[in-house]
Amino acid sequence: MRPVPLLIVGSGGFARETAEAVRAGAADPAAGALRVIGLLDDDPSRHGAQVDGLPVLGPSDAVADHPEARVVVCTGSPADYGSRRRIVERLDLAAERWATVVHPAAALAPSTRLGAGTVVLAAVVTTTSMVVGDHVAVMPAVVLTHDDQVGPFATFGAGVRLGGGVTVESGAYLGAGAVVRERLTIGAGALVGMGSVVIRDVPPGEVWAGVPARRLREAAGRT
Ligand SMILES: CC(C)(COP(=O)(O)OP(=O)(O)OC[C@H]1O[C@@H](n2cnc3c(N)ncnc32)[C@H](O)[C@@H]1OP(=O)(O)O)[C@@H](O)C(=O)NCCC(=O)NCCS
Repeated sequence: MRPVPLLIVGSGGFARETAEAVRAGAADPAAGALRVIGLLDDDPSRHGAQVDGLPVLGPSDAVADHPEARVVVCTGSPADYGSRRRIVERLDLAAERWATVVHPAAALAPSTRLGAGTVVLAAVVTTTSMVVGDHVAVMPAVVLTHDDQVGPFATFGAGVRLGGGVTVESGAYLGAGAVVRERLTIGAGALVGMGSVVIRDVPPGEVWAGVPARRLREAAGRT
């Protein structure tokens, strides 16, 4: 079967990592093999550029010019981790146009359910039944364990580990290497700093960091 054409929204680090994952054989569990046809970026200065050998074809609205392509939004720096939700809501594509991208070196339990638009990079492990929502970014070497629940638009930095039964609510960001004790909740839009050890629930919309993690401040902006 011919690979399904894929447009990646974004041209920064996460977008390039996703493109590399596709080069390495990342596929959509439902649609099969993928082939990146280009990147889209709302910064006009990037249009026409080549990024890692891929063309930046235009703004995110150019998804309308490629109806045959599936789409994945790959933005979400710690400075603006709400951007993925904003772009997805603005594009408002039919559910079947979003791709789910899974690196071939991810080890996912067959009972793990992944949402549309979710990207899972190399060496991610899920151990048993769990639900990972739509448009979630899961960076390399993240470990999600039994009964975790991950809401839409969450972001996991590299090496995050969740104990069993953890809930990560919509739009939360877990910084690289953070560890979360079993059965806790990371609230919607919260940010957990890199390397943190979380031993209490993190309320929605707050930034927590440290060992053990403590509140630093409110999270900025809408996520
Ligand atoms: C938590 C975080 C958002 C805080 O950033 P910030 O608001 O700019 O805060 P600052 O760097 O000014 O630090 C504020 C305080 O928190 C401490 N702090 C910041 N990040 C921390 C962390 N991860 N763990 C422990 N303490 C931390 C700082 O030492 C400082 O303490 P002080 O006031 O006693 O000097 C940021 O440090 C972080 O961890 N971001 C995630 C980065 C990441 O995971 N990147 C990987 C993907 S690219």
